[in-house]
Amino acid sequence: MNDKDQSSGIRKPGSSLDISETEMRELASQVTTLVTEYFAGVSTRPVFPETSGGKTIGEIGVTLPVEGEPLDRLLHDCRVIIENSRQNGHPRFFGYVASPATPPGAYADLIASTLNTNLTSWRSGPAATEIERTVINWLASLIGYSNETHSAHGLLTSGGSMANLTALLIAHRAKADSEVGATGLWNSSVPMTIYASDQIHMSIPKAADILGLGRAQVRVVDSDDRFRMNVPLLRETLTNDLRNGMKPFCVVASGGTVNTGAVDPLEEIAAVAKEFDLWFHIDGAYGALAALDEKKRSLFRGIDLADSVSLDPHKWLYVPIDSGCLLFRDEARARAAFSFEGADYIKVHEQTEDEAFAFWNYGPELSRRFRALKIWLTLRYYGVRRISQSISEDNALAAYLGEQVEAAPDFELLASPELSICCFRYVPPGLQPKLRTGNGGDAAIDTQLDQLNTSIMNVVQRGGRAYLSSATIRGKFALRACITNFRTTRADIDLTLEIIREAALGLE
Ligand SMILES: Cc1ncc(COP(=O)(O)O)c(C=O)c1O
Repeated sequence: MNDKDQSSGIRKPGSSLDISETEMRELASQVTTLVTEYFAGVSTRPVFPETSGGKTIGEIGVTLPVEGEPLDRLLHDCRVIIENSRQNGHPRFFGYVASPATPPGAYADLIASTLNTNLTSWRSGPAATEIERTVINWLASLIGYSNETHSAHGLLTSGGSMANLTALLIAHRAKADSEVGATGLWNSSVPMTIYASDQIHMSIPKAADILGLGRAQVRVVDSDDRFRMNVPLLRETLTNDLRNGMKPFCVVASGGTVNTGAVDPLEEIAAVAKEFDLWFHIDGAYGALAALDEKKRSLFRGIDLADSVSLDPHKWLYVPIDSGCLLFRDEARARAAFSFEGADYIKVHEQTEDEAFAFWNYGPELSRRFRALKIWLTLRYYGVRRISQSISEDNALAAYLGEQVEAAPDFELLASPELSICCFRYVPPGLQPKLRTGNGGDAAIDTQLDQLNTSIMNVVQRGGRAYLSSATIRGKFALRACITNFRTTRADIDLTLEIIREAALGLE
């Protein structure tokens, strides 16, 4: 390249990554064909693929290409990746609280990546910031956290774990001695403690660890026979801990536990939080969106009394992963925890409040994806009525599964579905009389049933026709079905029970 070329800004041939419009159309057409085939055929694929460790890479290779490769080859390899993937969108995928993505949500992600907005602040993404703030308001009103008199604020996160971590930092800064925010130090000889039930998700003790408090600072309160926090015990534990020189600062209630879907008594816990001057956080990552089901709404009475609530549109709003959300009432508290004045590169020069808005003042991330678009597009495409209906159907299907299990002599219900999770176990004919009469020693029978049901789960998972995970319910191994899937029908539930029976027979 001569000097003239350099000064005129001409690049070396082939160094630009732009592609021609014809190539772009070809890429778009092939990719949308793949996506359409995928969505149209997801129910007919194995839930878990016939794969083994290293098979995917064995098929597509690991060579780092020096030169670009043909599109056909790349799409072929993408198909190999799809074939070797577990299909969360399959109607008999009951493994985890993970909803299938919808086509509008998936395409919204494509648009967001095309725009590639870095959603740090209004200045970085004016439109995206306004959409995210709109989505936050929508989510808060959907779950009953905000109304005409109660406004809510918040931000989207990668998921529930990040939302919980963010909430606990805000809570800690709000309730710690005033100098903590400035110095980052607190008097660690006074242990600051968090309260949660024995059913709490692991992201809470993890967050306590990350915050430097330590996992042991999460004081575990036993749950009642419906797996909900025992509130008199919470009060007793707080009273004792205060007497022993601890500094309780936060109580975390579950708005749908990961094990059984139990919703803690939110109103009662809010009263205790008020009495003991605690930050009241609700982990609704899995369950808060169940408030969209009219029949479940009363379980969430008191949600509007929380200082903060986590919820995951990627768990139960059928939005692609990463779609978590933290809502909080007091914007100033969140700002006090996260705002940072010392860096020129984040100075905001805009004059109006809207234009000066920056997400970095409310959470740990600076660079952020335009996550709101997929939530916004999903809600606008389907409308709240249709989404609510699907969530209600998920709950009704879990109830149906519970009924089928209770009616069958060879199954035992271990936790009645509160929302859309059902925990049960298979009991072979030989063990049924013993279980009923208590003859033969309960512990010995439970050990046998634990082993049998663990094997059943493994066989079912690898068989590819249905996928269940497990939970430990009062010491017993349970098959756990989480139904957050708009494709599941009653026939899928019936078939899954048959698949479990077949797996059990095969193990005899
Ligand atoms: C109750 C609850 N809280 C938090 C989480 C963590 O959410 P995420 O996986 O989005 O980080 C989960 C995940 O299953 C959950 O069920």
